[in-house]
Amino acid sequence: MSRSEDFEKIHKEISNYVKFSIPNSLLIQGDSLEILKKFPSHSVSLILTDPPYHTTKKRNVYGDTSFEEDQHYLEWMAQYAVEWKRILRPNGSLFCFCSPSMAARLEVLFLEKFNILSQIVWTKPNDPGFDGWKQKMKKEALRQWYNHSERIVFAEPAANGNLHRSYFGNLLRECRKKAGLTMNKLTGIIGAYGKINHGGAVSNWEAGRNVPSEEQYEKIRAAIFKTGKVESMPEYRDLIRPFIIDGTKEFTDVWTFPTIRPYDGKHPAEKPIALLTHAIEATTFPGDIVLDCFGGSGTTAIAALKLGRYAISIEIDAVWVKKTIQLLKSIQKKQYKEFPDNYKAKETMVNTPTLQGNLFNL
Ligand SMILES: C[S@@+](CC[C@H](N)C(=O)[O-])C[C@H]1O[C@@H](n2cnc3c(N)ncnc32)[C@H](O)[C@@H]1O
Repeated sequence: MSRSEDFEKIHKEISNYVKFSIPNSLLIQGDSLEILKKFPSHSVSLILTDPPYHTTKKRNVYGDTSFEEDQHYLEWMAQYAVEWKRILRPNGSLFCFCSPSMAARLEVLFLEKFNILSQIVWTKPNDPGFDGWKQKMKKEALRQWYNHSERIVFAEPAANGNLHRSYFGNLLRECRKKAGLTMNKLTGIIGAYGKINHGGAVSNWEAGRNVPSEEQYEKIRAAIFKTGKVESMPEYRDLIRPFIIDGTKEFTDVWTFPTIRPYDGKHPAEKPIALLTHAIEATTFPGDIVLDCFGGSGTTAIAALKLGRYAISIEIDAVWVKKTIQLLKSIQKKQYKEFPDNYKAKETMVNTPTLQGNLFNL
C-alpha cells in the first residue's frame, strides 16, 4: 500500500478524534495510548516522540508527575512500545526522548520489541542564562554530575526470532534460498564482489550489517525473479530502513542543538526544529508518514511537513493543541517563520549568567 493510501486509511480509522487537519497532516486531541490502538498495523514509517520524562517532575507538563513509582511509568511506556511496534512499518524507525536517569530502563523495556541502534546524547550548548537553571541551587553543590544532556533512544522494530537480523536481511535470505541461488552466485550476478570475501556483499546484507543501493536491489530482484521460483518482493522503500547521512551532516550520536530560549507561549519542553529535522531527514524517505504521540506544540509535525513528509501529531492538552493549530495554519499559508524569528527572548533572561567564566558555557 502506498504512503498516501496508508495516510487515508489512518485518517478514516481515527477521524472521530481529528481536531484539525491540513493536506498531509492530522492533529488529534486525546490520550495517545487509546488513539494508537485505532491505527492500522504497519502504517507509519517513523515514530519520533517526546513523552513526559517522569523524572523531571514538571508540573506544567501533563503527565510528568502522574506516576507515584518509577515502575508505574515504565509499565505505561511498555504499553506504548507494544503499539509502536505494531504500527510501525517493519523498515520503520523509532526515536524516543527520555531523561538520562530513565534511559537505561527504557532501553531494556524497548528491547522486548525493538533493536536499540543508538542512545543519542543531546548536549545543550546554551549561552549562560539560557539553561533553565536560573535562580536554582548551585550546580556544583549537586551530589552527582550536573545533568547537561538528554537522551534519545533510536531503535528499529526487531525482526522476529533474532534481534540481530534485519527485516531486509531475513527477506533476502528467504527469497534467495527459495530461488535456489547461493550467496556467491547472487553476488556475482549483481557484480558486488568485494576484494576479499567473494560472497561478502550478500552475506553482509543478510546479516543486516549493511544494505544494497536501490540499483543493486533492483538487480537482486531481477535475478531472483528470473529463476521463476519467486513471484514478488517488496519495493526498496518498503523494505530498507532508511538511514541517509552524508558528510555534511552530524553523523555521531552526540547532538549539539541549542535549546529553545524562553518566549511567550513556549512549551516547557519544546524541542528545536533543527534537531527534529535532522532526525527525520536521516531516517525517512520523502513522502513517509511521521507520527508524534506526545506532540506538545507540534514541532515534530512542523519539521516533517517542511521536509515533505506526512505528519500526525497527538496531544492531550488543549493549550498545545491550540498552538499547534496556529502553526499548522501558518505552514499552510506559507507564513511559518523559522527559529529564531518565531520567538522573542524575554528581556529578563538576557545576560544573566549562572556560572560566569565556566569553560564549558553551561
Ligand atoms: C515532553 S512534552 C513534548 C514537547 C514537544 N516535543 C514540543 O516540542 O513541544 C510531552 C507532551 O505530551 C503530552 N501528553 C502527556 N500525556 C499524554 C497522553 N497520554 N496523550 C497525548 N499527549 C500526552 C503533554 O501534554 C506534553 O505536551
